[in-house]
Amino acid sequence: MDLSCRYLGLELCNPLVASASPIAGGLDGIVRLAHAGLAAVVLPSLFEEEVRREAAQDAAAWAAGRDSFAESLSYFPHVDDLEPHPRRYLSLVERAAAAVRVPVIASLNCVTATGWASYANALEQAGAAAIELNIYDLPADPAISGREVEDQHIEIVAAVKAAVGIPVAVKLSPYYSSLGEMALRFDRAGADGLVLFNRFLHPDIDPERLAVTTGFGLSSPADGRLPRAWISRLAGRVSASLAASGGVDDAADVAAYLLAGADVVMTTSALLRHHPEHAFVLLGGLDDWLARKGFTSLAEARGLLASSGWAGAAEDRAGYVGSVRAADRGEWLR
Ligand SMILES: Cc1cc2nc3c(=O)[nH]c(=O)nc-3n(C[C@H](O)[C@H](O)[C@H](O)COP(=O)(O)O)c2cc1C
Repeated sequence: MDLSCRYLGLELCNPLVASASPIAGGLDGIVRLAHAGLAAVVLPSLFEEEVRREAAQDAAAWAAGRDSFAESLSYFPHVDDLEPHPRRYLSLVERAAAAVRVPVIASLNCVTATGWASYANALEQAGAAAIELNIYDLPADPAISGREVEDQHIEIVAAVKAAVGIPVAVKLSPYYSSLGEMALRFDRAGADGLVLFNRFLHPDIDPERLAVTTGFGLSSPADGRLPRAWISRLAGRVSASLAASGGVDDAADVAAYLLAGADVVMTTSALLRHHPEHAFVLLGGLDDWLARKGFTSLAEARGLLASSGWAGAAEDRAGYVGSVRAADRGEWLR
């Protein structure tokens, strides 16, 4: 079965994409993902504060060296060369783009307005096929209004779009108060793709160790329900491509996302839980499912069960009330 498709205007050989994760943090992992059949690889995010921290450490080392050895003035780099610059990440992008035939998508997470635009530009120069914006921003300050936060996010997309010529995807938070409106705003701001959803770090409390714990944890298939519902609502309503991210473990999860209207389906937890070659299982299973259901192409299945419109909210509500009543009758036990 021909599984080829398009994402962000890029031609992909199938709809399975490796989402940002440590697997793609080195060249070996990226090559392994490409060999396992992933049609594109998103690199783990480049974090601006990490680059700044490294630059500060380099500057401190430079200053210490200069004080110790007068002659070192001649061979230590000039301090201007120590401006924050994501050298290691850019080198990974460059080497990955040369090593694999699938598109290498850089992921960017910045903290300053200039950082977003200038790092995006550097990633394009390094050979990234596209950039995914990981706008990881959970404002804890109650003085900031939702609209202010949303406007800042739209400005980030507009600034990056103005700075680069390659496609730009936005990895969305599920926590906007009106997610549909924000998706449309990102679309109008020029986002070439929307990734639903970003996974946030939720610190927790371990009562035995009396300690605060951190960590992402891996997802489970139930985590696919929320992104699937939103993809289903957005399919056909935005010009941006739609990428599903969350809760894929087997081929049925991939198929469900495609039926909802996803252009591509991303996976991280499954590749970490099993191994990158689990992609063969997902793709083989997708192929079998399409054939078993009588589809002759991926396009025939895509969006078949997308929501019929924004009015879907009324159906959701009816479904919710029905489910609550069913639970009241104890039907959830069966
Ligand atoms: C260990 C780990 C590291 C991750 N690192 C990043 C990252 O650097 N940038 C990012 O945007 N998402 C990151 N993610 C989120 C994944 O890309 C993905 O969106 C999320 O795990 C949901 O997909 P899944 O259910 O297939 O795991 C990470 C997830 C995990 C589990």
